[in-house]
Amino acid sequence: MPESRAVLFVCLGNICRSPTAEGVFRHYAQGCPSLNLAVDSAGTAAYHTGKAPDSRARQAAARRGYDLSALRARQVVTEDYHRFDYLLAMDRQNLDDLLRRRPPGARADVRLLLDFAEGVSLREVPDPYYGGEQGFEQVLDLVEAASAGLLSHLLEQAGRGNNPGALR
Ligand code: 4NP
Repeated sequence: MPESRAVLFVCLGNICRSPTAEGVFRHYAQGCPSLNLAVDSAGTAAYHTGKAPDSRARQAAARRGYDLSALRARQVVTEDYHRFDYLLAMDRQNLDDLLRRRPPGARADVRLLLDFAEGVSLREVPDPYYGGEQGFEQVLDLVEAASAGLLSHLLEQAGRGNNPGALR
């Protein structure tokens, strides 16, 4: 069984930004099957548990060839800190929430997603929920940039043999 790395994308509701990140990054990861990546998303809040991604997020993603239709919202659980190598927050509020709930002995590196986006001055992915279509396009632009950087980072790590542990 090849080594694997596990990435969880996190926003507030798990219906706009983090499912978009999951769908985009899954697509990018398909190009690197040897990395054997596990990819998921979750929200820090439970308001939308069980719901499909917001229709505006689904439509914007579909226009770029990403299918979000099978995804369903869930809230972050303590086990996520042990299962995933990375918990990647869309904004500082979600990062702070994740760090506050971090259990002792957590495996996950908890960071902002845009730490991996090269050439992007924003540090946070703006919440598109109360805005117009352009906000969903911006989410895709930022998530695509971060996905490329994250994949390069994981490939570099794997190349250095720094790839500890399969999914626990
Ligand atoms: P997300 O967007 O965190 O990117 O999924 C939001 C979705 C729902 C709400 C806020 C943000 N809400 O307040 O219901």
